[in-house]
Amino acid sequence: MSSTGRSVGPSAPKRAAEPWIRANDPLLADAAREWKSAYVHIPFCARRCPYCDFAIVDESEVGAGGHDRYIDAVIAEIALESNFAPLDAVNFGGGTPSRIQPHQLGRVLGALKSRFGLAPGCEISIEVNPEDWSHAFAAGLVAAGFTRVSIGAQSFDETILGVLGRGHASTLPGEVVASARAAGFASVSVDLIYGHPSETTMSWEETVTTALELHVDHISTYALTVEPGTVLSREVHSGAPRPDDDIQADRYEQFCEASAAAGFDRYEVSNHAKPGYACRYNLATWAHGEYLGFGMGAHDHRWGTRSRNHRRLDRYYSDISEGIQPRLGSETLSTVEQDRDEFMLGLRLAAGVRLSPFARRFLDGDEGSRYLDAGIIRVDAGRLVVNDPMLTDAVARESLSLSAGDR
Ligand SMILES: C[S@@+](CC[C@H](N)C(=O)[O-])C[C@H]1O[C@@H](n2cnc3c(N)ncnc32)[C@H](O)[C@@H]1O
Repeated sequence: MSSTGRSVGPSAPKRAAEPWIRANDPLLADAAREWKSAYVHIPFCARRCPYCDFAIVDESEVGAGGHDRYIDAVIAEIALESNFAPLDAVNFGGGTPSRIQPHQLGRVLGALKSRFGLAPGCEISIEVNPEDWSHAFAAGLVAAGFTRVSIGAQSFDETILGVLGRGHASTLPGEVVASARAAGFASVSVDLIYGHPSETTMSWEETVTTALELHVDHISTYALTVEPGTVLSREVHSGAPRPDDDIQADRYEQFCEASAAAGFDRYEVSNHAKPGYACRYNLATWAHGEYLGFGMGAHDHRWGTRSRNHRRLDRYYSDISEGIQPRLGSETLSTVEQDRDEFMLGLRLAAGVRLSPFARRFLDGDEGSRYLDAGIIRVDAGRLVVNDPMLTDAVARESLSLSAGDR
């Protein structure tokens, strides 16, 4: 424990860096529940992608000095935080963190380190857009302490990159992977999106093959979702085809088979990793671990409370300048509600979720028995596991009726 951090839970084994631990190992999920993390939201983007509804700011609106002002505000927010615990994982997400210079990101890391401490082997991860990358940028990130990079490749088909509104050529993510390896990142991941109506089976097959040939350690695959308020949603409402659920299910299965054959384990519905390379931050959040969130729109979960920050930059800045935490809202959860959250999140883990009193009530009820009998879920080594990841949301929805009675 660092002199600045207060331990809020038992110290957990650090397994993520151990190459023989498979990403879907239940022991890893158990450990991840105890990990402490921090999320830092960097909202800037060169432009908004047509499918994205994340809390972002178009850079053209912030002008010169906008990045420095934001980094100063995040550091001020970290200083407002109570003691937590040394961090097992830090994740810079967005938005597009790669819009910010490594030395500025390093200042935030320095503030986290001096406020909370970093546990041995702490994973420090960043989401990057391929077009922002350079060897100098990579070297700067490694020098600042980053250990893991997640590259927003999305597709290796030029047509699909075009309809997704992406600003990079299909060959660029491969160059970024090679450069990240050369710079010394311990773990390299790519993000993919599947199921755009323009995508063909062959196009997806080629994207999957190319991603696997890059020999990355980790791949996140997301079904294209039509989020309200996005350009994509407006297009769909004006008559453009929407992504087809059955086709997306086929694409997902295709990916799972190919990636498993290449040595990846699915450890969460959308996340696949080679042994030793599960993303700690991902695992910890799905395993209901505690995390602090900093920056505009960031979420936070600790000590039975869930909070979220303002999604508007002006509101975020004005609270910070008054020396108050920039909260849009907070709720304190009862023990039953915490068990329910752990259940809903943990259903997405391939290792499943611990049999809490909430999980046992679900199993004992009509829905649970029905799903058990139908082979949709199973109980394995003291955990409830969804056998078919595509049915995770359906099982979660059933359990909502159970929680409605608890309020
Ligand atoms: C915070 S976002 C963007 C990070 C980075 N700026 C980029 O564009 O790659 C993280 C990931 O969420 C996924 N994503 C965002 N919106 C999505 C949507 N509507 N449907 C499916 N995946 C989405 C993308 O794969 C993206 O890489």
